[in-house]
Amino acid sequence: MNPLKRLGRRRASVLALLATVALVTPGTATGAPDDVKASTLGAQAAQSGRYFGTAVAAGRLGDSTYTGILDREFNSVTAENEMKWDATERSRGQFTFGAADQIMNRAAARGQRMRGHTLVWHSQLPGWVSSIRDANTLRGVMNNHITTVMNRYKGRIHSWDVVNEAFADGGSGQLRSSVFRDVLGNGFLEEAFRTARSADPAAKLCYNDYNIENWSDAKTQGVYRMVRDFKARGVPIDCVGLQAHFGTGGPPASFQTTLSNFAALGVDVQITELDIAQASPNAYANTVRACMNVARCTGITVWGIRDSDSWRAGENPLLFDRGGNKKPAYNAVLTTLGGTPASTRQTDAPPPRSAAAPAALPSRFSWSSSGTLISPKPDATHNIAGIKDPTVVQYNGKYHVFASTASSSGYNLVYLNFNDWSQAGSATHHYLDRTAIGSGYRAAPQVFYNAPQRLWYLVYQTGNASYSTNPDISNPNGWSAPRNFYSSMPDIIRQNIGNGYWVDMWVICDSANCYLFSSDDNGHLYRSQTTVGQFPNGFTNTVIAAQDSKYALFEASNVYKVQGSNQYLLLVEAIGSDGRRYFRSWTSTSLAGSWTPLAASESNPFARANNVTFPSGAWTRDISHGEMIRAGYDQTLTIPACRLQYLYQGMNPNASGDYNTLPWRLGLLTQTNSTC
Ligand code: XIL
Repeated sequence: MNPLKRLGRRRASVLALLATVALVTPGTATGAPDDVKASTLGAQAAQSGRYFGTAVAAGRLGDSTYTGILDREFNSVTAENEMKWDATERSRGQFTFGAADQIMNRAAARGQRMRGHTLVWHSQLPGWVSSIRDANTLRGVMNNHITTVMNRYKGRIHSWDVVNEAFADGGSGQLRSSVFRDVLGNGFLEEAFRTARSADPAAKLCYNDYNIENWSDAKTQGVYRMVRDFKARGVPIDCVGLQAHFGTGGPPASFQTTLSNFAALGVDVQITELDIAQASPNAYANTVRACMNVARCTGITVWGIRDSDSWRAGENPLLFDRGGNKKPAYNAVLTTLGGTPASTRQTDAPPPRSAAAPAALPSRFSWSSSGTLISPKPDATHNIAGIKDPTVVQYNGKYHVFASTASSSGYNLVYLNFNDWSQAGSATHHYLDRTAIGSGYRAAPQVFYNAPQRLWYLVYQTGNASYSTNPDISNPNGWSAPRNFYSSMPDIIRQNIGNGYWVDMWVICDSANCYLFSSDDNGHLYRSQTTVGQFPNGFTNTVIAAQDSKYALFEASNVYKVQGSNQYLLLVEAIGSDGRRYFRSWTSTSLAGSWTPLAASESNPFARANNVTFPSGAWTRDISHGEMIRAGYDQTLTIPACRLQYLYQGMNPNASGDYNTLPWRLGLLTQTNSTC
C-alpha cells in the first residue's frame, strides 16, 4: 500500500512525476516451455476449491517413486493406518505418535493438507478397549483418546473422521454392535462428536462409513437420520465421509443424489477412501463428476497411490500402476476435474525437480476480470472511502478476506467472509479497529496459518512491520494486539529508503526458514529471514532482494510457492507510463535466490489493463495491490499452477482528489490462458 495518502499528497502530483519516468527495460522472459503442460490432480481440484488426496503409509515414505507421485499429484493426505487407535494408544494411556507424526510433518512441510483418520472405530481397536465392560470407564477412555490424539494435531487437520463405520450393513439402518454401542448405548456418537469439537474447534468433524453411497440403502438412510438429528439438536457435525470402496461398476446411479441430500442437511461431504475394482475410467469419472456437481463436496481422497500400495492390491483399483505410471483412470479423473491430460505417453515418471526443470507457469498471462465484488460499507463511525490491499484464504469452505479501509482520517483494517464470490458483496464488514488490533495506522494485511504453531497470523504495516495472532480466523475479536517483527527499521532499509515509505510486509516460509519481504516505494524489495522454529522472532540478515527504478519496482510485493513445481513466484506492483498500477512477475527456485523475469514489462505484464478483459465493464484501469487465491492457507503460501485467480484493487479511472479518499474497490482476475 502506498502511504502517500498519509501525507495527503494528491494523485495529480504523482502523475506529474510519472510523466518524466523512463521505464526500465525489462529482462527477457525465460523458462516456461511452449508445450502444453498437464495439470496434476491436486492442482486441478484446487481450481474448484476442492482437495485431491491420498492415503499414505509411513512405511512407504522411503520409496522415491511413491513420494514423487505423492508430492506431484496430491494436496491432501490421510494416514492409512497410523492415526488409528491400535497405532496411537496400544496400551491404555500410553500414546505413540511416531509414524503419525512422520506423515503429518511431511505433509505440512509440503503444503499438503491432512485428514484425520480415525478416532472411534470398532476395528483396529486394541483388545484392552474392546474388553471394557464398565460404561464410565469406557466413556473416560474414549474421551481421553479423542482429546489426546486431536490435541496432538490441533489446528493441523482439516477434517477428522471422529467416528468410523458405526452403522450396520444390511436392512436394519441401525448401529452395528461394537464395544462402544454395547457398553455406552447409541449416545456414544454424540458424546464423541462433542468431545471432538472441544478438542479441536478448527477441524471439521466427520462421520465416515462405507456402503452409504446408494441413497435407498437402509444404511445410508440410517446415517442420514443421524446427521439430521444431530443438526436439529445442535450436536456438532460438519461432514459426512463416504468411503467409496466400489466394485467394478463404480458408484451407484444415485451417488450424486446421496451427496446432495447429505449436503442439504448443512454438512460438507467428502469422498474419503476411493478405490474401484479394476479402475474403469468411466467408473472413476462418474465418481468424480458426482462430487464436482455438488457444491459442498469439498474433496476426494483415493485409498493409496499405486495398485501395489492398495489394501485391495489384487483388484488393481487405483490410479497408478505398479510402476507408478498413470493408468487410463487417472486421465479420466483429471479430465473430470477440468484438467487436460498430457497428450504424450502415459509412462511419465515424476518430473525432475532440478533448477532446469520446466517452469510450471507460462511466460505470458491473460486475464478476465469480474466487476467490483467488494465495496466499502461505511457505518456510523467508519466513513470509509476505499477498500484496499486485500489478503484472502479459503478455509473451512469459506473465503476469508482482510483488507485496508481508507478514509480521510487514515487507514485501518476490515474482515469479511463468504462462501462464494457471488456473496462477497453482501458479507458483513467487521472493523478491526474495534478489536485488540486497535485504531490508528494499520494497513496492507497478509493472512496465513502457521501450521507448526497452529495459529493464524495477520501481518500488516503500522510504520513498523507488525503482526497479530488468532487461534480462529473466523473470530474478528480473537486477534491479539499488534507486535513488531523488528525493534526498529533495519539499517539497510534506512540507508536506501530515500524519500520513500516502508510498506507492504509479506511473510512466506519454506520447510526451514521464514522470510519477511517489504518495499520502500523507492525501487527496493527487502528480505529478512528467521527459522521456522523461531518465527515470528529473530528476523535478521536484511538484504535487498531486488531493485529497479522507483516506479518499476514500487510496492505491494507478493511471493508464492507454485504447487507441484520447484518455483517461487514474485509479483511487484509498478506504476506504468500511463500512471496506472500494474504487476510485474519473476520466478526463482529458492526464496533467498535471485529473481528471473517472467512477465515483467508493460507490454508483457503479469497483470495490467492491457492483458485483462472486462466482460462486465472496464471499471478500472489500475490493477493494483492484491493477492492470489491460494491452493492452501498455511505459511508456505502455495498457489496452484493453473487457472490463477487474483483478488485486486481497482477504481473508477475518472476518480480524482485526495489519495486517501479515492474510491478503491475489489475485483477478481481469473487467468484465461492457462494451459493446464
Ligand atoms: C484399511 C487399510 O488400508 C489397511 O492397510 C488395513 O490393514 C485395514 O484398514 N475402511 C477404513 C480404512 O476406514 O481405515 C480401511 O483401511 C479400509 C476400510
